[in-house]
Amino acid sequence: MKKQWGIGVLSIALVGAVMFMMQKQSSEPIVYDDEQKGLNQQIVIYFSHVVAENTPKGLAAQKFAQLVEEKTNGRVKVEVFPNGSLYSDEEEIDALLRGDVQMIAPSVSKVTQLIPEWQVLDLPFIFENYGDVEKVFTGEVGKNLLAMLERKGIKGLALWGNGFKQMTSNRHPLVEPSDFSSLKFRVMPSEVIERQFQLLGAKPIVVPFNRVYESLEKHEFDGQENTISNIYSKSFYQFQPYLTISNHGYLGYAVMVNKVFWDHLPKDIQEKMMEAMQETTAWNLTQSKEQNEEELAQMKQNPRMHIYELTEKERETWKQKFMPLYQEFEREFGSGLLRQIKKAE
Ligand code: LMR
Repeated sequence: MKKQWGIGVLSIALVGAVMFMMQKQSSEPIVYDDEQKGLNQQIVIYFSHVVAENTPKGLAAQKFAQLVEEKTNGRVKVEVFPNGSLYSDEEEIDALLRGDVQMIAPSVSKVTQLIPEWQVLDLPFIFENYGDVEKVFTGEVGKNLLAMLERKGIKGLALWGNGFKQMTSNRHPLVEPSDFSSLKFRVMPSEVIERQFQLLGAKPIVVPFNRVYESLEKHEFDGQENTISNIYSKSFYQFQPYLTISNHGYLGYAVMVNKVFWDHLPKDIQEKMMEAMQETTAWNLTQSKEQNEEELAQMKQNPRMHIYELTEKERETWKQKFMPLYQEFEREFGSGLLRQIKKAE
């Protein structure tokens, strides 16, 4: 009897609570918990990229997301999707143009398909050191290059860096230009890079980043060029024991936003995002250098790796070999950009 009475009281209490909640819901706006506060006004930016999280680009994307959230008091949320989990490097520019993602940071080589003049940044030995890269990326030349994206419906926010590119192979050490003869190399889609390997007598094959590991494992090609950070984070070195420190090219990124999306953002949000971008870029250009150095030191511990650093004389031989690329670039695009870069350095 006592038990039945207890159940009755409980039922009345429950019905009362539900009625009270229903009344409250109809008269008040929906209340979100802390995490979701102001959700209805939040601007969400999907930022898609193809490399691992613990790489210069992956870390910079996370830092940018954090700074934007802080500076806008949570009004803007940048959701970062690494490892090509949303789009591969072959798909991401189109996804941005369609507005399916709002932000990407493809490597410069991939932008050359939209704006061929950007090949200037892929020219071998265009940068001697990290100082040169920083001057060009954050100065007038960088601004001019980013402005060229506008005609394609893209707002370029900054140029980020990964690091200098090195050569790897599964065949033998790559020291003399003749060591490249007849080898098949995976390359990013950029005419200058393809020509660079042709000048070495090698066969370049364009392969998207997300397929590189698998193709190396299947021995579909003999070598590739990339930064230490990409070689390390994606374990390319497992199948490519010969690593030449050549610092012959630089892998940079164009951080870009869909222009229609950008133009519709409130002015104060644009300003806060630009502020966050400047801080992130300064951080990225220092951090990327340190990360590549640390990971090279890690790889040197691996007894299966054969690491060779080019001497100054050998670098000079490579430079001479690549000279025709500069002439070809000038013939196609004039000497303006090249002069601006040399002046900035
Ligand atoms: C590559 O394709 O090797 C790189 O562009 C990947 C990247 O985004 O660093």
